[in-house]
Amino acid sequence: MIVLKHIKDLKAELQARRNQGQTIGFVPTMGALHQGHLSLMQCARNQCDVVVVSIFVNPTQFNNKDDYEKYPRLFDKDIELLQNTKVCDIVFLPDEKEMYPTAEKRSFDLGYLEEVMEGAFRPGHFQGVALIVSKLFDIVMPHKAYFGKKDFQQLAVIRRLVELEKYPIEIVPCDIVREPHGLAMSSRNLRLSKIDFENAKIIYQTLSHIPEWIKVMTIQEIKTKVIESIESVAPFKVEYIEMVNTFTLKPIIDFKQHTSVTACIAVFCNDVRLIDNIEIKL
Ligand code: PAJ
Repeated sequence: MIVLKHIKDLKAELQARRNQGQTIGFVPTMGALHQGHLSLMQCARNQCDVVVVSIFVNPTQFNNKDDYEKYPRLFDKDIELLQNTKVCDIVFLPDEKEMYPTAEKRSFDLGYLEEVMEGAFRPGHFQGVALIVSKLFDIVMPHKAYFGKKDFQQLAVIRRLVELEKYPIEIVPCDIVREPHGLAMSSRNLRLSKIDFENAKIIYQTLSHIPEWIKVMTIQEIKTKVIESIESVAPFKVEYIEMVNTFTLKPIIDFKQHTSVTACIAVFCNDVRLIDNIEIKL
């Protein structure tokens, strides 16, 4: 495994690999790696000749300065983990000057995706995601890129970006990896106290009831029930719970008209913001 910090070195290495006819799989991350990230890399390992992982805590996608500053940075530990698990061939570890040598003013037409859920509650977040992912795609030019369904709406944003920029890249969605008690793995989980981490199982426990609730309740009743259930455990506070069509992300009015619904949630545990979702096939 090699670790590269400069764009020109990465481009040269990847051009050499392409010249040998190797296919490139790419997994962009912000580090503090866990099994969720590793599952994406394993998937890339199974499908491509070369696995490239980027680790970069992208400032432009944080709408909250405190969240950016407190985001876990464990680069040495990440490199060691990647070395030991052998799921990656090339790590790209740029610094901020490398990715943003000048202030950028690009904007992407993400349309409706910026108006709902994560788009609405984290203004500018998806512009920042689109900006960094487009820069990384331009550098890596992978055949396939791997993204987790944990960030359900981000996946839709990436698909939109591929469409807008006409990238010849296949986007591969990967299943959510959970802790044994059900909480979706996330780098931000490292910021939870031991007791909050344990109690955070209420989020997925509650989401797991939705498939039964759909059969007997209205959408509003389900939302109320979800909020009551999660907020019965202190200090959890629901920022939003939405039920949307899995493919269009438009809110559901009548379940009967859909084949797949995704319930999406954002929950605060003090100042730590957790997101999760569950897909329900109807
Ligand atoms: P990060 O939060 O580090 O996540 C990197 C990738 O891992 C994303 O595609 C995310 O959906 C996936 N992932 C995270 N937790 C997961 C889990 N429990 N199960 C499955 N996949 C999981 O998402 C980002 O970074 C950034 O926005 C990025 C795309 C790198 C742009 O900066």
